[in-house]
Amino acid sequence: MPVLSTIAEAQRRRAMRVRTARVQHVEGPPPWHAPVRQLMRVPHPKQAAFVYDPIKRKMVRAGRRGGKTIGFATIAVEAFLEGRRVLYAVPTQEQIDRFWFECKRALAPGIAYGAVRKNETRHILEIPDTENRIKAKTAWDADTLRGDFADLLILDEFQLMNEDAWGVVGAPMMLDTNGDAVFGYTPPSFRTAGKSKAHDPRHASKMFKERSQDTSGRWQCYTFTSHDNPYLSREALGVSPK
Ligand SMILES: Nc1ncnc2c1ncn2[C@@H]1O[C@H](COP(=O)(O)OP(=O)(O)O)[C@@H](O)[C@H]1O
Ligand SMILES: [Mg+2]
Repeated sequence: MPVLSTIAEAQRRRAMRVRTARVQHVEGPPPWHAPVRQLMRVPHPKQAAFVYDPIKRKMVRAGRRGGKTIGFATIAVEAFLEGRRVLYAVPTQEQIDRFWFECKRALAPGIAYGAVRKNETRHILEIPDTENRIKAKTAWDADTLRGDFADLLILDEFQLMNEDAWGVVGAPMMLDTNGDAVFGYTPPSFRTAGKSKAHDPRHASKMFKERSQDTSGRWQCYTFTSHDNPYLSREALGVSPK
């Protein structure tokens, strides 16, 4: 059972979100939203399938450079425009940089307009004095994920994380906020196998298999390969030109 202070905190945050949504509803979207939408990436078909699905739990399995992280940045920016609080976590700095660059790029009109505040060191984009923000952080287990609050949690490169990141911290956080969770997973290769912080290096694969059979209507799993990403050149994929 969550302690009373946690419940009070969740209620306070929910009230703030409702207020933000009401202001947007009455006054219409702020003028910087339209230019942000124009800057957002056009998802490729396999990306669009998971980006626009409103389901509460999503798991995306795709090869390297398939388009997971760019898809997650698109989900994050969409959610940000709806007034939500997004936490993106991944074990590697390289993936943080890619995600952060994408969010910043799309939200540049909001930053220029003075509505969105950017903190480069903490990787936070936010509307000051509200709960509305995107934060990106490096996390690989429960302890490194702990300490933040969000109603949309994105765990990228989940196979490199310890299982407890979701079980001990992520899932309870989503219960408190009635939030949505997204998992990105690259099937392990010899190159990445050694870097994993997982007890069971196959935990993401097992979870994917299990959740693929989910019939509760709560989970959806998606899978595709690097070859489904039309934005990558054939050459880079090692396909010889005909
Ligand atoms: N919707 C898109 N529009 C333009 N380029 C894209 C898009 N999705 C992916 N890409 C390109 O594909 C590359 C790999 O995508 P990324 O999301 O980093 O893959 P993954 O996270 O699956 O390894 C990106 O660096 C980007 O150049
Ligand atoms: Mg990625």
